[in-house]
Amino acid sequence: MKILIVDDEPVQRAIIGQFLEEHGFQVLEAEDGRRALDLFRKGFIPLVLLDHRMPDMNGDQVLEELMKINPLVQVIMITAYGAVDTAVKVMKLGAADFLEKPVDLELLLGKVEAAVNRIETETDLQEVSTELDEGRIPLTFIGKSAPMKEAVSTAKRVAATPWPVLIYGETGTGKELMARLVHELSPRKDAEFVEVNCAAIPETLFESELFGHKKGAFTGASRDKQGLFEFAQHGTLFLDEIGELPEHLQAKLLRVLQEKRITAVGALRPVEVDVRIVAATNRDLKKMADQGLFRQDLYFRLNVFEIHLPPLRERKDDIPDLVNLFMAKYQTQPVRISSEAMDRLLKYHWPGNVRELEHIIQRLVTLCRGNVIKASDIPFVPRETASNLSERLKQVEKEEILKALRAKDWIQTRAAELLGISERVLRYKMKKYGIKNKRQ
Ligand SMILES: Nc1ncnc2c1ncn2[C@@H]1O[C@H](COP(=O)(O)OP(=O)(O)OP(=O)(O)O)[C@@H](O)[C@H]1O
Ligand SMILES: [Mg+2]
Repeated sequence: MKILIVDDEPVQRAIIGQFLEEHGFQVLEAEDGRRALDLFRKGFIPLVLLDHRMPDMNGDQVLEELMKINPLVQVIMITAYGAVDTAVKVMKLGAADFLEKPVDLELLLGKVEAAVNRIETETDLQEVSTELDEGRIPLTFIGKSAPMKEAVSTAKRVAATPWPVLIYGETGTGKELMARLVHELSPRKDAEFVEVNCAAIPETLFESELFGHKKGAFTGASRDKQGLFEFAQHGTLFLDEIGELPEHLQAKLLRVLQEKRITAVGALRPVEVDVRIVAATNRDLKKMADQGLFRQDLYFRLNVFEIHLPPLRERKDDIPDLVNLFMAKYQTQPVRISSEAMDRLLKYHWPGNVRELEHIIQRLVTLCRGNVIKASDIPFVPRETASNLSERLKQVEKEEILKALRAKDWIQTRAAELLGISERVLRYKMKKYGIKNKRQ
């Protein structure tokens, strides 16, 4: 990657330049703002190290010009030691980071690497957005918030490989949509994307559904049936809710993934299959594997790449775009949303994530009397997200306790065990958070 160093001191340029070259970067140098802008206009330079104090044009001015030419440029400003005001100012102007003089080379390298990471994420994202915008991918995918950018960039990179991908996310965060995005970005996009809900297929039918069966293999098998694995040949098989797969079926799935061959029920010979596996879960599969609730070997097979979809409350920047998308999807006549109503949506904590937002917008648009959605139309009172750390920790603790209790069918001994605390402490905490035992 190309890095431009702008500094009026030749020694400084030489030291930093040589150091970065040793670390594999291609370095360009400029002794002042004018020369820097010339180079910047000539060829694409994604990253600039800019000395703040220079004769002629100072760092602020150069930064402004650079950003006019390429708003996505990552600029690390080199400021005088202790010049906090300058650092704050340049960050406001759009610098990606700053570094105090005298430059600590290791620190510099860390910041350069972080910037490179952001540039790569941004590049992946641009490519994905272009494909989406030009309609080459038949999906609408919203994701401008920082954690979603990260997720989309990972999707772009893993899509090119043949390896399994595991998508994590709470209910309604868009796991299925993400699985489709991985498929559409992959070289397999012209073959099928086949969805399997592991929680919904009855255990007795699982093998026949996935691997197919031969005529007469069992009562009711009146003819040959192709399994979903074969439907997905050369394409993608999406195993949704993989955490719910019963243990003996986990063993069967593992074998298929290892051997890349399936045998239909009642068939004599196996058939080769070439299928990309994308699995999704809203559970902590690693923890389940550690606790013996999910096969460790299958977990390692599936978890070659991970994509984490953050809950909507952690990426509220995406809410306005999603609201607009869903309004356009459901409205039969033009409808607007008032800014107070939008504010309410932004403050809500969205336990059901994007799906909940979609349902609410659908309802609001359908029931809207005039052509403006008002705050009073919104059926819930937003819960302010806890702002200070101790409040947030309490919230997390309460949620974890509830999760454990639900998972263990409200049997306190087991929930306490799962949480790694004594039953007495659990009872105390339940009282503290006003959690009533559903079994009593
Ligand atoms: N980033 C997004 N951009 C646009 N639409 C989205 C996005 N994420 C989710 N949606 C929409 O929200 C709804 C729920 O998404 P999806 O079914 O993919 O979630 P999920 O994580 O699979 O949920 P569940 O855990 O309940 O199966 C879908 O209609 C989907 O199209
Ligand atoms: Mg789903």
